[in-house]
Amino acid sequence: MVKYKVLELFSGIGGMHAAVDLLQRSTNDEFEIVAAIDINTTANMIYRFNHPKTSHWQRNITGITAKEINKKLSPDILLMSPPCQPHTRQGKRQDKKDPRSEALQHILSLIPEIPTLKYILLENVQGFEVSEARSDFVETVRKANFQICEFLINPIQIGIPNSRLRYYGLAKRTEDNISWQVPSTIQEDFCLIEPSLRKLEAFIKKGKLKDFLEVNISEDYLLEEKILLKYNRILDIVNSESDRSCCFTKAYGQYFEGTGSILQQSGDLDAAYAQAEMAGNQSELVLQELRKLKLRLFTANEISALLGFPAEFKFPPNCSRKQQYRTLGNSLNVNVVAILIHFMLS
Ligand SMILES: C[S@@+](CC[C@H](N)C(=O)[O-])C[C@H]1O[C@@H](n2cnc3c(N)ncnc32)[C@H](O)[C@@H]1O
Repeated sequence: MVKYKVLELFSGIGGMHAAVDLLQRSTNDEFEIVAAIDINTTANMIYRFNHPKTSHWQRNITGITAKEINKKLSPDILLMSPPCQPHTRQGKRQDKKDPRSEALQHILSLIPEIPTLKYILLENVQGFEVSEARSDFVETVRKANFQICEFLINPIQIGIPNSRLRYYGLAKRTEDNISWQVPSTIQEDFCLIEPSLRKLEAFIKKGKLKDFLEVNISEDYLLEEKILLKYNRILDIVNSESDRSCCFTKAYGQYFEGTGSILQQSGDLDAAYAQAEMAGNQSELVLQELRKLKLRLFTANEISALLGFPAEFKFPPNCSRKQQYRTLGNSLNVNVVAILIHFMLS
């Protein structure tokens, strides 16, 4: 049995922590989160509510020093999901020029000064793989004697009914003359990590959406009529038998284009849309058809289950629905991260 000390940076609501817990349940290894660090008070409130015993620092990561990390934490593993806005279309893809890239740049400058560090996992959005930030990450870790293996993968590829294509950079510090036998190209499937996937498979929930849905959902989750009228043509509608859903973003519930799927609870989708189409501008007739579908938002609990958070994961009672969607949208797929950490350590 090995015991690892884990530093969780940009910890948000604790997606990395949940991945480590999953590994702890499914392997003989032990993991201790020596510190989780984030600046966002809402995400921190949720993290602390779920992990009251974890050492959690409400800090700006740009102010953390190598001395502090070495003296107080001496981590073996660094897990981090730095801000993705510098690499998204909505964030204008300003890459290193975006001030939100500063914290990652700062951490990269510290890596060579943390001698205990042997493993790093960095998660980010698709687009990061072509950024200068990624080039800096690769260059920094290589100079510090790490070897790197990169992935662009989606949980839907392994039967989880939710899409979340993400970049993962894994780095492992190897002893002199021993190399980590991994390809130099970015891996876009699970072939290389198949043994880790198999090892954790029994702990990963897959299936159709019905396996992730709550029952007796309040009517508050039904789409408002003005939303139905305005956005019915662009909604991504799924039902309980679907084996897919779109990536849920932090704007879910606020915006309706490309922010996540909507659940159809009854009726016949094609028939209702055909009738609505025929009704043209007659709003009341259009609504009459669309109401039959009982379209609703996914609940935060359903989204967290799709992301692979355990059933015990909960939001504090004072956390608004908007805050729940925002923080979940920023989080990650716990199962995919657990598989990747397992691969990196094995
Ligand atoms: C993509 S999210 C990470 C989410 C996390 N992995 C989770 O499971 O919720 C990025 C996080 O970085 C935090 N963050 C951004 N800049 C920061 C900084 N300078 N110092 C500390 N935290 C920062 C944000 O508050 C946000 O929670």
